[in-house]
Amino acid sequence: MDLEVYQDIKRQVKRLLELDLNHYKDEQMRRRLDSWLVRSGSTDWKSYFERIRIDEKERNRFRDYLTINVSAFFRDPERWKTLAEMVLPRLLKEALQRGLAESGLRIWSAGCSIGAEAYSLAILLDELAPRRRHSILATDYDLGALNKARQGGPYTTEEIQNLTATQRSVYLQPGGPPYYVTSSLIKKVEFREHNLFADPFPKELDLIVCRNVVIYFTSAAKDQLYKAFRDALRPGGVLFVGATEIIPHPQTYGLRNAGISFYERV
Ligand SMILES: C[S@@+](CC[C@H](N)C(=O)[O-])C[C@H]1O[C@@H](n2cnc3c(N)ncnc32)[C@H](O)[C@@H]1O
Repeated sequence: MDLEVYQDIKRQVKRLLELDLNHYKDEQMRRRLDSWLVRSGSTDWKSYFERIRIDEKERNRFRDYLTINVSAFFRDPERWKTLAEMVLPRLLKEALQRGLAESGLRIWSAGCSIGAEAYSLAILLDELAPRRRHSILATDYDLGALNKARQGGPYTTEEIQNLTATQRSVYLQPGGPPYYVTSSLIKKVEFREHNLFADPFPKELDLIVCRNVVIYFTSAAKDQLYKAFRDALRPGGVLFVGATEIIPHPQTYGLRNAGISFYERV
């Protein structure tokens, strides 16, 4: 696709889906758009945009496609082990020192996709500090993924493969595949639609989990997000990023490296 066509698609996508593709890496996005047009059965973008102007379902399908949503429970188990054994115990202790015995941690799963990440957090907190009242907010811009998250499934065998046998028996409904989490786990997470480039961020967070989301974004977009994440954390709060995501010069954002995939607000 040539640049002019891409510029026009970006304008239409912004107008119809309220999604600014300027924040996403060009080459990857153009490839994905090309293959979507072929799959959609439309001959050109003009007729496809005319179609989605009136067809809301197709419009949502297109929006969901543009925001890639692969996920799994405890994705990259080694990093989650560090979270469970080092990061969360410290955050829980600090909450106690601040006199917050009753209230638990304030956590945000940003770009939560199908909810597996947010439910992994809920499971860990239930194992580590079950009697404290934690707040887990999980957001995404993909309505299809959010819908699945709110329903607690269905999840495939691959998506739940990192759950231990005990976790499966406690937090999954009997039966499956496909699998559903229990209603008591669903109640521990608040899911909300949220566009990282358009909507306000929560504040005073102990932990932000934003994994495998910024990899699709341009450097300028990442820069904007890291600053906003820093502002959303309380001092000492932690940003947990994806296994392949490294923040260069974290000090420029008021963050410091606190182990692989973890950054602490200074
Ligand atoms: C690959 S998934 C990552 C899911 C999960 N965090 C994990 O690591 O397993 C990326 C998610 O980012 C979301 N996303 C992409 N652009 C977004 C935006 N502008 N605002 C909010 N979420 C967005 C997608 O909808 C998708 O669910």
